Amino acid sequence: MTKESVLRDNFGSRFGIIAATAGSAVGLGNIWKFPYVAGENGGGAFLLIYLFFVLAIGVPVMMSEFAIGRRGQKNAYGSFGVIAPGKRWNLIGLMGVVAAFFILAFYSSVAGWTLQYIVSSVSHSFAGQSIADLENTFNTLIVNPIKPVVWQLVFMVLTALIVLAGIKKGIEKYTKLLMPLLLLLIIVLCIRSVTLEGGKAGLEFLFKPDFSKVTAKTFLYALGQAFFSLSLGMGALITYSSYFSKKENLASTAVSVALSDSLIAILAGVMIFPAVFAFGIEPTCGPSLVFITLPGIFQQMFWGDFFGTIFFILLTVAALTSTISLLEVVVAFLSEELKISRKKATVIATLSVSVLGIFASLSFGTLKGVTIFGKSIFDVLDYTASNVLLPLGGLFIVLFVGWFGGKKIIKSELSNEGTLRVRYYPYFNFIVKFIAPFAIAAIFIYCIFWGGL
Ligand code: PHE
Repeated sequence: MTKESVLRDNFGSRFGIIAATAGSAVGLGNIWKFPYVAGENGGGAFLLIYLFFVLAIGVPVMMSEFAIGRRGQKNAYGSFGVIAPGKRWNLIGLMGVVAAFFILAFYSSVAGWTLQYIVSSVSHSFAGQSIADLENTFNTLIVNPIKPVVWQLVFMVLTALIVLAGIKKGIEKYTKLLMPLLLLLIIVLCIRSVTLEGGKAGLEFLFKPDFSKVTAKTFLYALGQAFFSLSLGMGALITYSSYFSKKENLASTAVSVALSDSLIAILAGVMIFPAVFAFGIEPTCGPSLVFITLPGIFQQMFWGDFFGTIFFILLTVAALTSTISLLEVVVAFLSEELKISRKKATVIATLSVSVLGIFASLSFGTLKGVTIFGKSIFDVLDYTASNVLLPLGGLFIVLFVGWFGGKKIIKSELSNEGTLRVRYYPYFNFIVKFIAPFAIAAIFIYCIFWGGL
């Protein structure tokens, strides 16, 4: 063992590993994005295709990232440098760092809104507002030049404080607390939602597949959503797994994380659709579903502000456990590659992400006129990260593992150097070699040439 790896902080327990990794996966992608993307793409049919992609492609890609990180014992860039020295595969890691930067910038802007919504729910300021009023409230907030920026900075500081405390005493400690809290809150809200009169239609919408709504696009949306939701393709899981113990069974961890992430996405659907149907709202309300439609629903509910507050705390917690994994990608990279202290790296990363984030936040109002290829700054960051960098990162990872020399290392990592039986290995190998690269290439090419997703 090298001196560096002895000095490196690590996760202290299996529960800590699962809480942190599932924490990265479970986020705005599950609770904000999944319900409306499912709503717009056929409900139950989308859910089935999504789950298929999570298990068939998401899990093998996740196992590959785990193996790369745990073998490399370094940040996303450094890990590739260790297992493929002298080759340029580490550029994948560098791309991941850039993706983390971009995602953090727009993600923390949305997370900032959730903080404002907690305050508004607690202070009953949504009381008596109709959907049109709520739409107005939301649109007034996001164009405000100061409020969203301040909330975003508060959120970034929260993220930075946890990352600053380290892996065991920061990330692990807080995700172990926050993830059970998240599960509890979501269960409370699910019970409230399914017991609303008329809510059954929502469950039917979510679980009864209507294949007449399925088009080629449904598959592409489902795969893109699986990548984003499982935090794949950008080094977050490579970075986290570099702190895993050598005894951890990577395949079973990947399955547990993927199942928890899917469970939370399904519960988010169970929480939202029955309420949407019970109050006669269209399930296809797009990104504003949780900021306009849901507060509208809470207003019509008994104890609405209470449930509204719980909901926005839930959203904040989910976002926070994801942003710490994103910031950790940048911090691990800066501190290990530039050989600076974690503290310095966290300060530099937080400040620079926040500057970019301010541009993202202001792109709804003050900087509305600034567009790149017709897209706002917020949309460019989201689009470039989610639709270009993540699929491209995922594609290169499976190409590396399946075709270019990564194979032996991966097999030895998955079997914990031969001590675990890996009977699934031929299937895994087949998927990373043939299925995953083609599926990912299809979504990528589609996104670039047809501007999908
Ligand atoms: N998986 C997170 C979510 O669903 C987003 C994320 C993407 C986090 C990539 C880390 C890395 O919200």
